[in-house]
Amino acid sequence: MAEKIVPIEQLVVEAKSAFRQQFGEDAAVAVFAPGRVNLIGEHTDYNDGFVMPMALPLVTVIVGKQVPGCEATIYTTTKFPNEEQRTTFEIPNKFSLVRAINREGPKWAMYMKGVIANYLGDVPSAFKAVVHTSVPIGGGLSSSASLEVATYIFLDQLMGVQQEATQLTKKALACQKAEHDYAGMPCGIMDQFISFMGNKDHALLIDCRHLTSSLIPLNDDNVIILITNSNVKHQLTGSEYPTRRKQCEEAAMILKKVSLRDANLDDIKYLESINTNAEIIARARHVITEIRRTAEAAEMLKQSNFVKFGKLMTESHASLRDDYQVSCPELDSLVELALEVEGVLGSRMTGGGFGGCTVTLVYSKSVDNVIQNIQDKYKGQATFYVCKPSPGASILHN
Ligand code: ADP
Ligand code: GAL
Repeated sequence: MAEKIVPIEQLVVEAKSAFRQQFGEDAAVAVFAPGRVNLIGEHTDYNDGFVMPMALPLVTVIVGKQVPGCEATIYTTTKFPNEEQRTTFEIPNKFSLVRAINREGPKWAMYMKGVIANYLGDVPSAFKAVVHTSVPIGGGLSSSASLEVATYIFLDQLMGVQQEATQLTKKALACQKAEHDYAGMPCGIMDQFISFMGNKDHALLIDCRHLTSSLIPLNDDNVIILITNSNVKHQLTGSEYPTRRKQCEEAAMILKKVSLRDANLDDIKYLESINTNAEIIARARHVITEIRRTAEAAEMLKQSNFVKFGKLMTESHASLRDDYQVSCPELDSLVELALEVEGVLGSRMTGGGFGGCTVTLVYSKSVDNVIQNIQDKYKGQATFYVCKPSPGASILHN
């Protein structure tokens, strides 16, 4: 059985009740920001390439209010081993030259401190907040980006800033910088961008060079997006991600290109001819072919050609497994088990890799068989989410 997706309204009720319990008063504002699943275009965002994610109905909610003083007090309903669920820190006053926030305290709060530090405009001098989420944590569905984006629009809401479409890219960039500076993760722009700009019933093709995007309808009842969480996370993610980034930069430098977005398969032949390190060549080959696959997948989706779209997803997985080497046995097994079932159009790992989730495109009538096959044969404990493309971050009115 797929997991039941908790409606946002219920999450807000739960968050408000936690707020009352923690602070003995009522929250004044509520916002949410979604997690995301990337359908295709993996490890291409930091190479100026294309990605095609959709926003999920799994969301992070923040409720809270502005208070007198100069401190933020935040409580998360999620329990982390060896970390406090509640933390208080000082917000530098608006006349400080640099809005640097102390880095002591729980790691989870770093994402929020980073957003406060990088917020474009004055921030509230003090507030109380509760964070509550339905995005699985550390599962590759961007619980961290949804926390950043929710924090951003929570601050907007406290400062009375209107949500304007023209400002969203700048806000996404500020959240990305928060993750770089305060969480130490040199991520691309995909997660924050889609969390702000997701749309109901649509995937979003993002051009990460020009920071432009186009919505592509994805609302055919005959097909389903099935997310399968391997429920493993290998510790490699943190160290391997920056290594991959550097390898891509090195390949682009050898080719005298600004980024691998400008490279093509002839450039791979050139790298081979000058005896470039085989690992660098393989990394570049993944990025070059993945950017091409993503552009083609967008066309296929526009034509509702799900068969070809699914084939491109499966090719993407092979490339991530063999050339980019960011998969792991659990993700490979989930993809193989999905592909065994008739009616499955394509399946691949999604997100950074080394654990987390797979995404599978399947005819609606076959989805139960896929879940059953994985439950019967997967060595670990998988969880399943059937998700439709959902709206991006927004304030919630009472
Ligand atoms: P993901 O793929 O889910 O983004 P990451 O490992 O990149 O995985 O980020 C997960 C981290 O983000 C958590 O360990 C925690 O520090 C932070 N985080 C995400 N959601 C929450 C939340 N609701 N409350 C507190 N911290 C959160
Ligand atoms: C994520 C990262 C994204 C993107 C993705 C791989 O973890 O935050 O920016 O690079 O990995 O496609």
